[in-house]
Amino acid sequence: MSGEVRLRGVVDADRDLIRAIEDEPAGNAMAQVFARTDAQLAVHWDRVLNDPAVLTFVIEYEQAGDWCSVGFVTSFVTPVPLASDRDQGDARRRCIGYRIGQAWWGRGIATRALRLFLEDSMFERPLWAIVAATNDASLRVLSKCGFDVVARRWSAGSERYPAGNEVVFRLG
Ligand SMILES: CC(C)(COP(=O)(O)OP(=O)(O)OC[C@H]1O[C@@H](n2cnc3c(N)ncnc32)[C@H](O)[C@@H]1OP(=O)(O)O)[C@@H](O)C(=O)NCCC(=O)NCCS
Repeated sequence: MSGEVRLRGVVDADRDLIRAIEDEPAGNAMAQVFARTDAQLAVHWDRVLNDPAVLTFVIEYEQAGDWCSVGFVTSFVTPVPLASDRDQGDARRRCIGYRIGQAWWGRGIATRALRLFLEDSMFERPLWAIVAATNDASLRVLSKCGFDVVARRWSAGSERYPAGNEVVFRLG
């Protein structure tokens, strides 16, 4: 069956690994996200390494005695306005995200990695996640890790995401 999963802190040398995973067309189609340009990646990577509000772990998977770096799980603060917000303003909330290289899909890695992240996470609850409504695998990962659906809605899209239906999840 499947090997062990563990997390380790991200380091600068992980940049190419993470870029390669983030550039995979099948993953971008599943997540409904546009690949980053070089300029966007430079800004993003600076935040990953230097912004204390961003916490990123590389996911390692054990196969035949070797530990392979196969994906990442991250937490960051971003605007997530909800209909229940009184001012309808730019409410910022702590979100999580994750991604596994396509070669490693379907082995239970994302579910186990997110559980490890949540067990160890220093972040206060609630935690939030926003998922494309078509992303069945990610919807399932979040449900299995205890997240609840709090909203289903249309997103107008952005530089990073195409327009489409999205699901807002909350834990805690
Ligand atoms: C979504 C993603 C993280 C799932 O990673 P994974 O390691 O393959 O997930 P798991 O093996 O832990 O599977 C989780 C559940 O999803 C199901 N699943 C996996 N791939 C699926 C697919 N393509 N369609 C439907 N369900 C799927 C699994 O069967 C499992 O459910 P089960 O336990 O009831 O059988 C991975 O496909 C990925 O990185 N996709 C691209 C990026 C992305 O979508 N990130 C999340 C953005 S919110």
